[in-house]
Amino acid sequence: MDSFKVGIVGCGTVGGGVVKLLLENGELIRERIGRPVEIAFVADPQRERALALGVPKEKVFPDGIEALKADCDAVVELIGGTGIAKRVVEEALKKGRHVVTANKALLADYGEELFRLAKENGVSLKFEASVGGGIPVIKALREGLAGNRIEAIYGIINGTANFILTQMSQRGISFEEALKEAQELGYAEADPTLDVDGYDAAHKIAILATLAYCRFVKTEQVFVRGIREITPLDIEIAREEFGYGVKLLAITKLVNGEIEVRVHPTMIPENHILASVNGVFNACFVEGDFVGETLFYGKGAGREPTASAVVSDIVDLALGNTYAVPECLFKGENLRVREPEEFTSSFYLRFTALDRPGVLAKIASILGKHNISIKMALQKSIEFDGGVPVVMTTHPAPKKAISLAIKEIDALDVIVKPTFVCMIEELEERA
Ligand code: NDP
Ligand code: HSE
Repeated sequence: MDSFKVGIVGCGTVGGGVVKLLLENGELIRERIGRPVEIAFVADPQRERALALGVPKEKVFPDGIEALKADCDAVVELIGGTGIAKRVVEEALKKGRHVVTANKALLADYGEELFRLAKENGVSLKFEASVGGGIPVIKALREGLAGNRIEAIYGIINGTANFILTQMSQRGISFEEALKEAQELGYAEADPTLDVDGYDAAHKIAILATLAYCRFVKTEQVFVRGIREITPLDIEIAREEFGYGVKLLAITKLVNGEIEVRVHPTMIPENHILASVNGVFNACFVEGDFVGETLFYGKGAGREPTASAVVSDIVDLALGNTYAVPECLFKGENLRVREPEEFTSSFYLRFTALDRPGVLAKIASILGKHNISIKMALQKSIEFDGGVPVVMTTHPAPKKAISLAIKEIDALDVIVKPTFVCMIEELEERA
């Protein structure tokens, strides 16, 4: 059978991994699928990156757009970002080439137009590596769970943030120290904003929500909070006093026929399986109406795991499986995305207050006025940020009521710092 020819654009961390995998495991892939996958070309401004991996020099180009003139069946975009990468994807689709990408930022912001362009040109745009690195969660949602109504997805889908929270939790170190370690170990981006402020996870949950709920979800529709404000004290209190672990969760779920799409630090029962996903590992916990609960776990980033996911898309295309996104996406019958103020959740509230008589009563009275029911309350006898930490958890309450109450409480003269607020997901505990 003819070889399936791929052009790889971008030979950095992931692109280099894809070249390496195709060269090292090429024979294995040929035996499995019954046809060889051939590297038609590799493009990267640093040509020596491809040459060092053993790609013949006549197949190595310095620029991705130029390289598209060469013949191939699929173009693999691994440049990243929404600039030149978008141009490469558009040009390739217009030329009638299938495209494989790991670019979550591109899909979360321009997915709708790019998938429409692919459809118009009768080709496929595949994206397994865009969420969860090596974990085949996209294929699972698109195909394995296709018969299910997806009730919820809870994802730990940013390895850097999970590494930082794990270090803060296990060693009691500060956010700044943990971030420095993540940078030294090469996990965090050079500019770690996308990781720690939640935007990388927002790109990814926008993609998962798009697949799960058959409507295009963009990053701007995702409620996003990062992990900068979490202190080791909150992590300790959550665990010691309330039995919760703290994770940066990316969540999408069906609520009364509408959907929520959000990324924020979340307290979850410490013995829920997601609480034991540590370090740079990723996990997606998916609930379907027929299948029940499923868990997808593995390395969410890095050269080899991500290359594994990219190659799974290439193999799919070589086998003639061009199904990339559900047809219903193009009908435009959209479930509404709920606004953050419509969320209902249990909350963890840490007030930083002066240690004076009547403080608890004042806080409780404002919460009561907003119809917020306190579940547990405690005060720590330690100095913290110029006051003492007063911590409460609530029964489920509207986020809007919490915001209004916190605004009033923070204006009290006995409150010395803005209150730290964290949502709690009472996921069913598993022993
Ligand atoms: P890198 O920065 O390591 O690699 C990108 C490569 O593209 C660089 O070698 C860059 O060269 C090259 N490049 C820039 N402009 C062009 C051009 N015009 N034509 C051809 N090549 C060009 O990024 P990653 O490999 O880390 O990421 C690639 C994609 O994979 C991104 O979308 C990222 O979000 C995604 N991803 C990455 C993961 C990871 O673990 N790294 C995990 C999951 C997804 P130069 O250095 O000279 O600019
Ligand atoms: N910066 C991302 C992470 C890389 O830490 O998970 C993978 O998308």
